[in-house]
Amino acid sequence: MKKEILIQYQEIVNFDLLSDIDKKMIDKAQEISNVAYAPYSQFQVGASVLLENNIIITGNNQENSSFPCGICAERVALFTAKANYKDINIKKVAITAFSKNFTLEEPVGPCGLCRQVLLEYELKQDTDIEILLFDSEKIIKISTAKYLLPLYFKENKLKRN
Ligand code: THU
Repeated sequence: MKKEILIQYQEIVNFDLLSDIDKKMIDKAQEISNVAYAPYSQFQVGASVLLENNIIITGNNQENSSFPCGICAERVALFTAKANYKDINIKKVAITAFSKNFTLEEPVGPCGLCRQVLLEYELKQDTDIEILLFDSEKIIKISTAKYLLPLYFKENKLKRN
């Protein structure tokens, strides 16, 4: 039997239509992408996390000469948020990236590892996390982390029952 999974997302080109909080998140993600430590890839990523208490936590990618030591902007921001505000739900995450070497054509989506991390927090808190991917031209709004990871791995699979 053939099955299909569809996801929906919103594409916004008029930044004026964004809410004040979305604008703030975008500004903060943009700002922190400028100071990422990415000397090897020259690819600068910034992420902002909005918590339910309206605090915004930011992060950027941190690289290392021993490549696997590096970590993505999204996980820096998400782990910082959860390390400091363990029981506060995440409302939204905004992500942006630029390369120092070339122009990106589209807003950049999070890598698979970051999708898994986003999803676990979403499943744990039982409310959706909205994801905003943006560049200078447009914003892509995804209403839930589940849309980014079809047929995802569930933590309960680790338990017998
Ligand atoms: N990177 C992120 O920060 N987030 C992603 O979702 C994808 C990739 C970083 C990791 C590395 O420092 C650089 O971008 C190039 O892969």
